[in-house]
Amino acid sequence: MAYQNILVETNDRISFLTINRPDKRNALNQPTRNEMVHALESLEREPESRVLILTGAGDKAFIAGADINEFEGRTALTQREAMKGLRIFTAIEEFPKPVIAMINGFCLGGGLEVALACDIRIASDTARLGQPEINLGIIPGGGGTQRLTRLVGEGKAMELILTGDAIDAAHAKEIGLVNEVVAAGDLRGRVVSLAGRIAEKSPVALRMAKDAVKSAARTNLREGLERETDLFCLTFGSEDKAEGVRAFLEKRKADFKGK
Ligand code: COA
Repeated sequence: MAYQNILVETNDRISFLTINRPDKRNALNQPTRNEMVHALESLEREPESRVLILTGAGDKAFIAGADINEFEGRTALTQREAMKGLRIFTAIEEFPKPVIAMINGFCLGGGLEVALACDIRIASDTARLGQPEINLGIIPGGGGTQRLTRLVGEGKAMELILTGDAIDAAHAKEIGLVNEVVAAGDLRGRVVSLAGRIAEKSPVALRMAKDAVKSAARTNLREGLERETDLFCLTFGSEDKAEGVRAFLEKRKADFKGK
């Protein structure tokens, strides 16, 4: 599939999925969301791709939210129809490989919801983050009320969602919304270095680890701990576990194959 709205490339086990509508501040219209879902399905099957970095083209925006042009004239029923099928936020969250949001500018509305569906968020010091839907007379509909609340707590989530105000990267780090803030010029290097370190790990163990951590928000403690035990034991069935343990005992670096 030739993409019109996104760029996808893989080098040295690290894939980049870049929303490529810089003139529209990388706003997500339906064709862009469809292409993102399609690209994730392909990357899932690509063994060379071990870690995914999601970002926006240009230096102004990560993603400035849903494309507001599509909202005009929509009724409740047509909006419901438009939201049927696999949604990009779920597709990212359920993507079995680690996903890092490289937040290089405005990260608003659906853009913040995309970032929230990622596993790790690294922001440039120029980024601004927020859920401005309330200013349009609507509310977040891409998981923002749920994932933001789980990440930063009810009080901070309420403040962001009820005011619609955007906050700067330093504030976002303070409330745990982003893992790290990096000078704009260093952002790509820092994120690639982080992705590179993760890409050296066992893809099998990464997949199980992601699944286990996600269980914490999806279930209660008892079920989450049971899931963790199951996934922990499952890693013992992998060749990567045999290689990882052997490499440690032989005092060498492990070479994980993802089997
Ligand atoms: N949907 C559709 N188009 C958008 C958009 C969005 N979410 N965000 C930006 N754009 C478009 C603008 O309409 C403009 O298009 P034009 O050049 O054809 O007029 C272009 O992107 C540049 O935007 P502009 O506002 O001029 O850039 P800026 O750098 O001054 O401001 C933002 C950037 C992100 C602060 C501002 O565009 C904005 O507030 N966007 C809406 C954010 C939002 O409410 N998102 C939640 C949607 S639910």
